[in-house]
Amino acid sequence: MDNNLYNNIYKATLTDLEFKQLSQFIQSNYGIKMPPIKKVVLQGRLHKRLKHLAIPDFKTYIEYVFSREGENEIIHMMDVVSTNKTDFYREPVHFEFLETELLPQLFKLHGRGTFKVWSAGCSSGEEPYTLAIVLQEFKEKNPGFDYQVLATDISTQMLQTGANAVYKEEKISIIPLSIKKKYFLRSKDHNDPRVRVVKTLRDKVSFQRLNFMDNTYQVNDQFDIIFCRNALIYFERENQEMVINKLCQKLKPEGFFLLGHSESITNMNVPLKSIKPTIFKKT
Ligand SMILES: C[S@@+](CC[C@H](N)C(=O)[O-])C[C@H]1O[C@@H](n2cnc3c(N)ncnc32)[C@H](O)[C@@H]1O
Repeated sequence: MDNNLYNNIYKATLTDLEFKQLSQFIQSNYGIKMPPIKKVVLQGRLHKRLKHLAIPDFKTYIEYVFSREGENEIIHMMDVVSTNKTDFYREPVHFEFLETELLPQLFKLHGRGTFKVWSAGCSSGEEPYTLAIVLQEFKEKNPGFDYQVLATDISTQMLQTGANAVYKEEKISIIPLSIKKKYFLRSKDHNDPRVRVVKTLRDKVSFQRLNFMDNTYQVNDQFDIIFCRNALIYFERENQEMVINKLCQKLKPEGFFLLGHSESITNMNVPLKSIKPTIFKKT
């Protein structure tokens, strides 16, 4: 790319009107709140797209995004707009509760069969693979038990990372050694140490693009447990309530629903009762 164009792209600024056009579109189609304070953040994230497309300013970018030829660009725009922070064993209390209480309880209730868990807003896969580790460990101790994990997100880049299942080795530093050895393969490149989740777990987790704001969710199964953690914090309350209701339609009677630790359903009209903070059961 010519140097001049490159430098100009990083100087491109979003006008208030351009910010409004984009933020209204993002909020109404993808739920993610974009108050005016987010203008500089959005501008910074979108510079990457301008650079990739060699588009010099936001006016031209917006015309492109909303044109017929630019339809695909919306997917890439959402890749940079979404906040994807995640970790293996993030909020570990949930995984302890899964192992010691939920799984024994549900296995006793339903017996043999395939247990279905949904990681909704899965980001780059650390959450669904942590679920798969806990479920695999339980399976090995409980003959007749089997499981599947569905992992969905709006970001195609995150879903691709999840499906590849390759992570920097430092990402698994908090995992106990015996679990690391059993479920991660190490790369031979000492300059860029990476690990890959083993095939046994990769085969159990399927990744799918799903927008929480879709009218109906293209998911055939009914789930025993839904993890929807730290994804709806960026949504307006009424959208949070609408999404939780739609997710609950995919939850089996007596199924469990988990939110992130800073999230709540207080004053929401949703078919859930609280078991513990952030852990709910379908009513
Ligand atoms: C902060 S991450 C949380 C990841 C994981 N659940 C955790 O707690 O570590 C939030 C995820 O929600 C996804 N997300 C945001 N808006 C979405 C939407 N409208 N539909 C589906 N996923 C969405 C983002 O792409 C992001 O990967």
